[in-house]
Amino acid sequence: MAHPRLSGAPERVVCADPASAAEAAAERVASLVLEVVAERGECSLALAGGGTPRLLYARLREREDLPWARLAFYFGDERCVPADDPQSNYAMAHEALLSRPGIDPERVFRIRGEAAEREAAAAEYAALLPARLDLVLLGIGEDGHTASLFPGQEALAERERRVVVVRGPKPPPWRLSVTAPVIEAAREIYVLATGAGKAGPVARALAAEGEVREVPARLARRGVWFLDRAAAGELPADRAPGGETQ
Ligand code: 6PG
Repeated sequence: MAHPRLSGAPERVVCADPASAAEAAAERVASLVLEVVAERGECSLALAGGGTPRLLYARLREREDLPWARLAFYFGDERCVPADDPQSNYAMAHEALLSRPGIDPERVFRIRGEAAEREAAAAEYAALLPARLDLVLLGIGEDGHTASLFPGQEALAERERRVVVVRGPKPPPWRLSVTAPVIEAAREIYVLATGAGKAGPVARALAAEGEVREVPARLARRGVWFLDRAAAGELPADRAPGGETQ
């Protein structure tokens, strides 16, 4: 079978459990980082929030072979809470990965979710985002959201601003999120989703037909999806995942 990427079929990597899905994703992130740094001398990654990526970040942290000082870290979204709040995506990523020796703190760009002036913080972040991120890491919510782009929201139609303030249904409600143009411009998109609760939204996101307005994670459809068997549970059996199963 032709390599899924060459055939144009989106790539899906289905693994036995969350740990092996995180491991497969970490391997792929590492090889992309090495490829991009070899090409350009640096690599920009936007990290995903929520709980799922924690395992991925822990696997990445262990890698001694990555040019950590060459990596610039951004975020796809942030909750409007202080940076040390347990609900902060920055706090989770810092504890799991960004506190690693070798990472240059000057190259970690967190979203100032705590800012009282949220619109100003969104504009400030949009201005420091690179024109094109090398890698955008994303998760998917049980309602099909990704980053902090939730179904039916105005923000999904935003084509000019690259970071917007949103009030979403998932607590905490106020967030800052990158918009579709930022995700669409990325060189690579990797999605990590595990657990039976994600099977429905994953199937809707990857279905041939569907609307981003209803399932925002369809913005990541062209990406590589790292799934455990539970999260892949509603993918059509007749259409084997476009990638390898590990
Ligand atoms: C956030 C995330 C969000 C997350 C999904 C899945 O700030 O909440 O950016 O998009 O990826 O909600 O969250 P879990 O990994 O916790 O299921």
